[in-house]
Amino acid sequence: MSVVITIDGPAASGKSSIARLVAKRLGYIFVGTGNMYRAFTWAVLHRGMDPDDAAAVIADLPSIVFECPILDGQTHVRLDGHDLAADQLNSDAVNAAVSLIARIPEVRARLVADQRALIRLGSLVMEGRDIGSVVFPDSPYKIYIDASEEVRATRRRAQGQTDNLAERDRMDKARQSSPLVIPDGATIIDNSAITLEEAVNQVLDALRSKKLPDLSAGTANDPNTTAAPPH
Ligand code: CDP
Ligand code: CDP
Repeated sequence: MSVVITIDGPAASGKSSIARLVAKRLGYIFVGTGNMYRAFTWAVLHRGMDPDDAAAVIADLPSIVFECPILDGQTHVRLDGHDLAADQLNSDAVNAAVSLIARIPEVRARLVADQRALIRLGSLVMEGRDIGSVVFPDSPYKIYIDASEEVRATRRRAQGQTDNLAERDRMDKARQSSPLVIPDGATIIDNSAITLEEAVNQVLDALRSKKLPDLSAGTANDPNTTAAPPH
């Protein structure tokens, strides 16, 4: 039976790097949900719309053709049939607007449905802000990744990006719809002062103590499967 490991945490805490490596070790599909919100934000900006105008964004939602196919064991994001590149998803403009788009309940409802549908394809390591609290609240395998604000800002700067992490965290925690919280039952791992490898090992130890079934790498999933058809 497929399982979901949920990994949540604030911006630049190390979630996606850790989740990707945990998925690889276990042979699960890696799902980065932040890129889904980033793709919708890119679409809104590309259409010249104001990301703060929720009514206009909601009106345009049905015309956004979004898919998250799985290639090489991880989800990618595709808009109107085109893959979005990392520099588009992580542009300064998207960093500045994504929390405005992510607070719109209609955007969240659509993406949460897509995220839940991925379980049909196999066992998942899914990272984001609301995965353990809203998307898969019944998962017994919940992790919350944290790091100090200073460490997170330093790591993001080292990636060459302009990103107001404090403001994004403030908005993500304060919004009405699925705010960033530490999910009930989550193991908190602070990786401010440890390496990526040490953080991955701590996550795997926590999952073992939560009695994660011992599925050997690669048996659970076909690494090249296309998710639900576009809509
Ligand atoms: O990589 P980083 O932590 O900076 O951000 P991300 O995971 O790519 O997420 C970008 C933004 O998407 C977040 O600041 C949230 O506003 C939103 N998001 C969300 O609301 N819910 C999720 N499950 C994932 C991301
Ligand atoms: O996904 P999220 O925004 O939470 O963070 P990330 O993109 O995985 O990590 C931000 C940066 O911190 C990346 O360049 C990671 O390689 C680095 N990192 C690190 O140096 N040490 C760690 N223990 C975790 C992440």
